[in-house]
Amino acid sequence: MDMHSRALKVLPRGVSSNARLWHKTCRTHRPCSIFIESAKGSHLWDVDGNEYIDYRLGFGPVILGHSYPAVHDHIHKYDEKGIIFALDNPLEVSVAEKIRKLVPSAEMVRFSVTGTEATMHAIRIARGYTGREKVIRFEGQYHGAHDYALFSTEPPFDSQKGVPIPSSLGIPKALRDLIILQEWNDFESMEKTVSKHGNEVAAIICEPVMGNAAVIPPAPGYLKFLKELADKHGVVLIFDEVKTGFRLARGGAQELLGVKPHLSTSAKSLANGYPVSMIGGLQEIMDIVGPKKVAHGGTYTGNPISMAAAEATLDEFETRNVHESINKFGSKLMTGIREILEDRHVDGIVQGFPSMFQVLFTNLSEVRNYRDLSSCDFDLFARLQLELLKQGVMFDEDNGEPLFTCYSHTQEDLEKTLQAFDAALPVALKSDVPVEIEDRFTTWR
Ligand SMILES: Cc1ncc(COP(=O)(O)O)c(C=O)c1O
Repeated sequence: MDMHSRALKVLPRGVSSNARLWHKTCRTHRPCSIFIESAKGSHLWDVDGNEYIDYRLGFGPVILGHSYPAVHDHIHKYDEKGIIFALDNPLEVSVAEKIRKLVPSAEMVRFSVTGTEATMHAIRIARGYTGREKVIRFEGQYHGAHDYALFSTEPPFDSQKGVPIPSSLGIPKALRDLIILQEWNDFESMEKTVSKHGNEVAAIICEPVMGNAAVIPPAPGYLKFLKELADKHGVVLIFDEVKTGFRLARGGAQELLGVKPHLSTSAKSLANGYPVSMIGGLQEIMDIVGPKKVAHGGTYTGNPISMAAAEATLDEFETRNVHESINKFGSKLMTGIREILEDRHVDGIVQGFPSMFQVLFTNLSEVRNYRDLSSCDFDLFARLQLELLKQGVMFDEDNGEPLFTCYSHTQEDLEKTLQAFDAALPVALKSDVPVEIEDRFTTWR
């Protein structure tokens, strides 16, 4: 029996996370998941012995490379000294000190374990600080699995604009009344909404660069505009940098794009894949966290293993040109893909930043918001991904999930990937292989 069939008997849908279930593209053309046996550097090996160059990198965290020696060695210094105390350890302080130097808005930091927890706490902090309850969020953005923001993460393109749609069964209706939905990069609507509802709004939460509906950067001036609007109306601006933090730059999108939010959340690239997340923010706001004030805690928060991984990762950033290297690799890959699209006269764009970008088959010159994605040929992307997989190059099957680059990607990876892309594209264009569809964009219709 194959692994997926075994898994189906014990895990709902055969996976431990819905996002790992591939609907469109897999060797068997049915919903499945690829089971990974091991990973090293920029490569993965599945249980059938197939090798892949990895551009998913665990949905982004693996910024240095899989099983990265400096991180492992550092962890091993701590794992024999006990891994959980329900008391604090010095690593928490030294990691927070390092973060404070790197992340512009992180005057104070609290650690959590997952990105979901971090955004949940950030929203609570904003509510506690302002005494208000509503939250403004953007269509097509994702802030984790908790009920407070799980609305309109991938709504149908023909759904009514501005109406929040729960992205799961089981979300209480009452929470919908606390969400105000906006379209990314729409200055006018945002201005009107905040002017009208500002005094009820605790927070504007956004991914400063959209990274869960392909990669959609902010329009020039948009983040600064959000910050000014938030300041004017006493609203807390939260940048959810769970994907972009420590990746787009050492200080995240807020450093790269030069706008300091009031609070921000980061996770993935902070510890090269070990489970740790953080909420960082201005001291005046973070000061609301404490007993009889805003609750924050967790059995595993700040555990020495995660903290050691974070410390080693941040040290690598300091002592090696990690970001320069992942950007250089990514720029070459973006350029190479653009050249192939041009040579083969295919309508498509490569959008985003060198360490996090996506290929979109569209005749638009730029995708500016979630609704623009409706112009993209997701089936072509799915067929391309399947062909690439056969050639040992792994993109995510979901066109909304970015490609990521890491410090362990090599020149050889680059050449193989571009060769594979060039060979796969004509097959994908011609192919009449039916693509197994339970379209991600209609899942909750
Ligand atoms: C921007 C953003 N926020 C929050 C989350 C949730 O993080 P986690 O999966 O660690 O709970 C994710 C996950 O991909 C994310 O991309």
